[in-house]
Amino acid sequence: MALFSFLKPSNKKVTIEPAGVSFEVKPGQSILEAGLSAGYAMPHSCTVGTCGTCKCKLSDGRVRELTNFAYVLEAEELQSDIILTCQAAAKSDVTLNIPGFELKHLTPPEDFKGKIIATEDLTHDTKKVTIALDRPMHFDAGQYVQVHHNDIYGARSYSFAMPPAEEGCREIELFIRQVPGGEFTGKLFANELEQAEVGIHGPAGNFWLRDGRGPIICVGGGSGLAPIVSLLEHAAKSDHGRPCVMFFGARTQDDLYCLERINQIAEKWDGAFQFVPVLSHEPEDSDWKGLRGFVNTAIEGAAGQYLSSETQVYLCGPPPMIDAVTETVLALGIEEGNIHADKFLDASHGISRQD
Ligand code: FES
Repeated sequence: MALFSFLKPSNKKVTIEPAGVSFEVKPGQSILEAGLSAGYAMPHSCTVGTCGTCKCKLSDGRVRELTNFAYVLEAEELQSDIILTCQAAAKSDVTLNIPGFELKHLTPPEDFKGKIIATEDLTHDTKKVTIALDRPMHFDAGQYVQVHHNDIYGARSYSFAMPPAEEGCREIELFIRQVPGGEFTGKLFANELEQAEVGIHGPAGNFWLRDGRGPIICVGGGSGLAPIVSLLEHAAKSDHGRPCVMFFGARTQDDLYCLERINQIAEKWDGAFQFVPVLSHEPEDSDWKGLRGFVNTAIEGAAGQYLSSETQVYLCGPPPMIDAVTETVLALGIEEGNIHADKFLDASHGISRQD
């Protein structure tokens, strides 16, 4: 009996430096899951070992890989004790080095029962979907949930397209874009998921408006508008005096949506607010008088007055857009730590997807 209790796996302690916070991780539990359950803003995005957002240095202790880190990390990183917290279980007490770790309380993710109660066409390929939950969910503007349907393999991740409420939200709204060949969106756009029961896991993600007094540059592409609108509608409720420019990258005028809500944000915003739609595939001979081309090029020309050492940038949309805009704003002098991105991944990136 004494031997059994000696061998019984025990909780381990994870300490994050230089922030100096610590929490317990259960045997077999991922360090990321334990940190999120404790309410810490652990850096993460996909949660399934594909995006690399959660990587950090193991400065002390030993971990077990839940899936092979080598799928995501470079050989050099592996040799330097870089780990993925979403794919690491603790074999001993461990210390992780995460520079810039943000001391913010996030609502720990939980499982909810949901039911799709309404859908509305926003464009030819994007719907607003309303899901009723079995109890109120608390979240930060900009975060996302995972949606699971029993007949469809895997979960899909979609951002809240609404601001949070103090008392929590019993109904949540998501913007869902149809992905060609996608199993979940195929059924949704064929109206086969009306009143469907779904599992909801969340909230998740590190996309929220950081404190500060400097200007805000937001960029949304496609259904990446959802967290940007959520974040700005929430921020529009308070007096902060921060100038803001919002870029919306779309293909044509038919792909623009949510314009009325953006107008309302502009009306309520405490300070200067500029909305800049940018169309990449609008026919040359159309009546469009706004900017054409890709959003990263537009930023070079239109973001000048919003650039300062305190400027924060929030990007959400497909990975190529985010990579291009990140490169542009870094070249414009924005500090890397002030760039916050939420990449919308598809099936080729793993389970955290939107097909
Ligand atoms: Fe860990 Fe994406 S690889 S959160």
